Amino acid sequence: MVVGILKETGTEKRVAMLPGEVASLKKLGLEVIVETGAGEKAFASDAAYLKTGAKVAERSDVISGSAMLLSVAAPVDDINLFPEGQIICSVINPVENKVWLENARLKGLSVLALDQIPRTTRAQSMDILSSMATVSGYKAVLEAASMLPRFFPMFMSSAGTIKPARVLILGAGVAGLQAVATARKLGAIVEVFDVRSAVKEEVRSLGGKFIEVEGAKEDAAAGGYAVEQSEEFKKKQKELIQQRAMAADVIIATAQIPGRKAPVLVLKETVANMNPGSVIIDLAASSGGNCELTENNKTVLVNGVTIIGRSDYPSDMSSDASKMFGNNIINLIKIMADKQGNIVLNMSDDIINGTTAVHRGEYISPRVIQILNL
Ligand code: NAI
Repeated sequence: MVVGILKETGTEKRVAMLPGEVASLKKLGLEVIVETGAGEKAFASDAAYLKTGAKVAERSDVISGSAMLLSVAAPVDDINLFPEGQIICSVINPVENKVWLENARLKGLSVLALDQIPRTTRAQSMDILSSMATVSGYKAVLEAASMLPRFFPMFMSSAGTIKPARVLILGAGVAGLQAVATARKLGAIVEVFDVRSAVKEEVRSLGGKFIEVEGAKEDAAAGGYAVEQSEEFKKKQKELIQQRAMAADVIIATAQIPGRKAPVLVLKETVANMNPGSVIIDLAASSGGNCELTENNKTVLVNGVTIIGRSDYPSDMSSDASKMFGNNIINLIKIMADKQGNIVLNMSDDIINGTTAVHRGEYISPRVIQILNL
């Protein structure tokens, strides 16, 4: 069976699989065809792919010649270009690409939505959202440190003592915990808010201080994710965040609720009360932002506070982010490839079932069905 790797469009610098991982794919008995220049922005040349035994071809030949296509973002090319029965494996964003997904269903394509891989222990090695959130949490802290007109660590020098920076982290999921670890390694004092009590110990073990707001609502049925909170809780939490934000130099905002707009946790008044020179990095920018003043894909300066609304840090770290992305896909393909090098979509496997958005004209993934209200 032939697996095709597409070149990303727009500003995306990652590629779904680097040559090192292509070599592992070939060991599974699969043939690989790569679009010309696919790895360029992740520093992988066509020659490096050719060395692994893969072929390199133009986009139309990759699309028409592959049984399975890999890309980072959904390939929203004209749906008629894709042969019926083809498997597309990408980050789909079903809400954003609802129309494209419906056309893919009508066309009889099988779409594996990498952003819907179930969050189970068995699926951990395939979890692209976790890998990319790790990159984002790390890179967000580095960007904050480089934007801040202050040191992160404490400094004792002949010119006096410099106090360590204070970093406030909103949301201790994968990105937030990586941000705690990175900010601590740089010597900052770290405080953390989350609505899930399960993360308290993890935050503490990384050297952060967990700030508890009483009355948080949790739901075991949410699969480890946060749920919408009561109005009373939200009010209490915003007040406490405002208090801690006034003492902070940096806020890394990562709080998300799947399928919903991100919770607004940092109000205009909170920003007005922050120290000039402070930096807010809002990783929830693409789903509305945790800060009321965030503008997606923009940096704004309000009362001396720099607010960076970015959700695309993994693209900035194209090399390692692509490596992680490709490894996650290999682990997914391992549970789908048979001994003859064919990809078999076994819908009784909970990972395949949960990840397959559409197959043979039907919507399959219960989560996709739920978030699209089908
Ligand atoms: P996410 O990106 O959906 O949200 C980030 C964080 O924001 C979460 O910790 C969430 O509780 C928090 N949050 C949401 N609303 C908030 C509010 N109003 N105030 C403060 N914090 C708020 O989460 P992410 O990083 O995708 O992971 C969530 C959890 O999923 C993990 O901690 C883990 O339990 C589970 N998970 C399981 C995996 C597996 O078993 N394969 C892999 C990755 C995550």
